[in-house]
Amino acid sequence: GLPARVRIHEVGARDGLQNEKTAVPTEVKAEFVRRLADAGLTTIEATSFVHPKWVPQLADAEQLFPRIADLPVDLPVLVPNERGLDRALALGARRVAVFASATESFAKANLNRTVDEALAMFEPVVSRAKAEGVHVRGYLSMCFGDPWEGPVPVPQVVRVCRALVDMGCDELSLGDTIGVATPGHVTALLTALNAADVPTPALGVHFHDTYGQALANTLAALRHGVTTVDASAGGLGGCPYAKSATGNLATEDLVWMLRGLGIDTGVDLGRLVATSVWMADRLGRPSPSRTVRALSHQ
Ligand code: HMG
Ligand code: MG
Repeated sequence: GLPARVRIHEVGARDGLQNEKTAVPTEVKAEFVRRLADAGLTTIEATSFVHPKWVPQLADAEQLFPRIADLPVDLPVLVPNERGLDRALALGARRVAVFASATESFAKANLNRTVDEALAMFEPVVSRAKAEGVHVRGYLSMCFGDPWEGPVPVPQVVRVCRALVDMGCDELSLGDTIGVATPGHVTALLTALNAADVPTPALGVHFHDTYGQALANTLAALRHGVTTVDASAGGLGGCPYAKSATGNLATEDLVWMLRGLGIDTGVDLGRLVATSVWMADRLGRPSPSRTVRALSHQ
């Protein structure tokens, strides 16, 4: 069966904008987040408190967050380490996300650490956040394939998921960072996680659409009981530290499919498309989302 309701974790303002070549003005980011909230999205990942030299596109986190903090939505932010957590807590963030890697190559490229060194870096972040009553998401990148290492063995992914759960993460997001997953692989990973006692309600999925498989992969995950799906308005996105990563699953494409399946998301598709068209104008190129193009005649 399929779930009656799906929670969309909107990542356009973070995963989307972290990958733009030119810096988007803080004002435009704030307006983007406001419009996403107006369109009915309730979890809007806002920015990252990472090293500004590593991701200059999000170096304005301190300026952005206070401008949107009044919105009646959840605004999770990425924090790689205690320094990032300090910055986020100082602004009143109530939801943070750490981001681990299933592969050594990406852990090195993205965090300058081995997989286990990165986990050790997250441990005090998670325990301090939990002690403050702050919700913690644990991302896991390269769950299916890695640009340097190729296909990633399922047990390798399960091990890091287990570590994130044991550390105290409230939810996990399984990342197909470079978009190479296919539905059978998704089902195999979710089955293995169940066998390892990682509870499905704590699992979200995070698909990039490089090979056009993101919706098919999402459907496989929904059939398996997953109810949290990451998506990016207009299909913006990618990761600057993973070559060949393209945009995330477009939120509009997801909402179109879910609406057809009778699954409630609370999102107003017309308003969301208008938001992505507005953002595409700011970025100077059309949205790659098929649904945005179909509904806006872009
Ligand atoms: P490092 O160079 O090893 O840092 O980078 P360090 O710990 O050695 O510290 C060096 C200096 O940086 C120190 O300053 C720190 O204070 C400072 P100094 O004492 O030398 O003056 N520093 C910071 N400053 C501000 N904020 C901070 C911070 N931390 C240290 N938080 C580090 C290690 C983790 C910091 C770096 O690798 C980093 O920032 N990486 C972030 C990369 C990133 O954001 N990638 C994109 C997000 S992940 C993604 O997109 C995948 C996802 O979408 C899921 C999927 O698709 O798979 C989530
Ligand atoms: Mg991503």
